[in-house]
Amino acid sequence: MKELIKKLVETDGPSGYEDRIRELITKECEPYADEIRSDALGNLIVRKGSKKNNGKRVMIAGHMDEIGVIVTKIDEKGFIRFTRIGGVRTLTCIGGRVRFLNGVEGVIYTEDRLAKEFPEFDKLYIDVGVDKIEDCPVKVGDIAVFNRPFTDLGNGRLISKALDDRIACAVMIEALKKIKQTDNELYFVFTVMEEIGLVGAGTSAFGVEPEVALAVDVCGVGDVPGSGPMNVKLGKGPTVKVKDESVIAHPKVVKWMAQTAEENNLPYQLEVMSGGGTDAGAMYKSRTGAPTGCVSIPTRYVHSPSEMVDIHDVENAVKFLVALLTPPVKPG
Ligand code: CO
Ligand code: ZN
Repeated sequence: MKELIKKLVETDGPSGYEDRIRELITKECEPYADEIRSDALGNLIVRKGSKKNNGKRVMIAGHMDEIGVIVTKIDEKGFIRFTRIGGVRTLTCIGGRVRFLNGVEGVIYTEDRLAKEFPEFDKLYIDVGVDKIEDCPVKVGDIAVFNRPFTDLGNGRLISKALDDRIACAVMIEALKKIKQTDNELYFVFTVMEEIGLVGAGTSAFGVEPEVALAVDVCGVGDVPGSGPMNVKLGKGPTVKVKDESVIAHPKVVKWMAQTAEENNLPYQLEVMSGGGTDAGAMYKSRTGAPTGCVSIPTRYVHSPSEMVDIHDVENAVKFLVALLTPPVKPG
């Protein structure tokens, strides 16, 4: 599974430009899908199974897009000014490297060398190693992602950019492979533009009309220096989300998820995340609404270029999805 994760995180796909990652995920899913298509905005919709024995139509959403930066202006000397795509903070930018979709690489630095506070984006620039604007190989509107390789620490912990949310894409692909038969009509939807406002999950849910919806995403943790009062720890199992900033998970869904984990002897943690939203927030209020929940993979340093997960949480999240989605889904 680590090979799949490496391929997924090292394929660039900032919000709105998910073509390459969609192509890769399509290839991975094709042999296991009953039907596969992409919609007008680029969401990849993969169906497995059809309804029988009181099964349900279930949408499982994980986003393909990743955070990045976009060029706003280039000065005479070829220094690139930029702003963010998604929840990027200047704190994690300075000294970092970016890679544009055309392959050009550069380093981010700040004008404010002696700053006591973290600068605004207007003080930051990207240096691609040129001396004048004529030589600059990118233009206004070009988009870059953070440039960090996948690292396996060898002790179960993995570090990379874009684990948010390619780790969920990996979990969904593995679950799709492992679900041999199901009583439900499952729609694994790899969504676009989550990071700029849960866009793809909203439009694809309108089309799929789920009776029950589950997001798969990363969540923060409370086990590192300076982290807030959060219950979730790395390596203690995937989570059953109770709430984030975008959704209050449906109590029936939370109960069904917790019961299923317990019946299958799978570790899980209850999650209340006070910063950030997920595709769950768009699915639960689509059309006339769908009872919605979310499985999260605990992740350190979310939205930095070096996010960290524990492979055991990832593997248990796969088992959890298989246990949830094989028998008739209960709530709805
Ligand atoms: Co995110
Ligand atoms: Zn995410």
